[in-house]
Amino acid sequence: MDWSPNYKTYWHARYELPDGTIINPGRQGNVERTNFRAQLLRQLIARTIGSLKDRTVLDLGCADGYFSRQAMHMGATSTHGIDINPEEIRKANWLKKQLREDDNITFKVGDINDRNVAPAHDVVLCLGLLYHTFNYAETLLRLRNLTRELLVVDTDVIPVSGSWAKLEFERGLAWQRDLMPVLVLTPNAIDDLASVAGFGDPRAVPVGRDAPSDYGAGRRIMRAYTLANDDAGANVRAATRRTDNFITQPFSWRYKLGTLFYKTANLFMPVANKAFDRW
Ligand SMILES: C[S@@+](CC[C@H](N)C(=O)[O-])C[C@H]1O[C@@H](n2cnc3c(N)ncnc32)[C@H](O)[C@@H]1O
Repeated sequence: MDWSPNYKTYWHARYELPDGTIINPGRQGNVERTNFRAQLLRQLIARTIGSLKDRTVLDLGCADGYFSRQAMHMGATSTHGIDINPEEIRKANWLKKQLREDDNITFKVGDINDRNVAPAHDVVLCLGLLYHTFNYAETLLRLRNLTRELLVVDTDVIPVSGSWAKLEFERGLAWQRDLMPVLVLTPNAIDDLASVAGFGDPRAVPVGRDAPSDYGAGRRIMRAYTLANDDAGANVRAATRRTDNFITQPFSWRYKLGTLFYKTANLFMPVANKAFDRW
């Protein structure tokens, strides 16, 4: 058997291969929690659009592809998984081969911040990804352009009412030594930004006492948003183009010249400091 990916470490979910081999999740998740989240997703889809039947799904931040596969089990016509980490995509594709899946499920390296990350899909999954971004507003605008019918967001939140944001430092995963800054919003703030981006009608499924602690305590939510209306979509597309212009501005010749000036000036600073000390 070709164990090319580092399968022993950081799988996000449990998989059973046709030869009976069990792949267990690494410390990022546990089986009960993953099952709970899959169940939440199933209930949300049932409550909003009924099912994934005859729908295409885009799974952003798909990691090794657990939710992409869940979407296929839920009847999606096709699912496209995207992750910024090539190692995750390698694992997802390796599993695809082992599980003998057909080409209705595909995986590709990509960055959610890239305007051309993927074409629009009926249903977009953005699970465990939003809090990795510092620019929620812009990400939600991108998600709006990628979504034809329904967006599902699963993310860490601050469990208070009102529209607030908080900077937190996430203890790094095993292979990351440093603390990772994450920006966490309240559910209301996410709804507000989603509505600015052209999404409406946020829906959630009530979670019971047996929910994993973060969901149970309201520190993590999964909600679905439908599209507000077509006009909003047009406004959003225009706004996204403006955002793109804004982002690319720092790379204008003025920015480059300015950077060059400061870098050059900094080169002389030690010499200037020494001269100043002697004087
Ligand atoms: C916490 S995992 C979530 C995995 C899975 N969606 C889930 O909910 O269990 C976050 C994933 O998002 C990926 N990711 C982080 N930033 C990204 C970006 N800018 N574009 C695409 N994927 C990204 C990471 O590589 C990682 O696999």
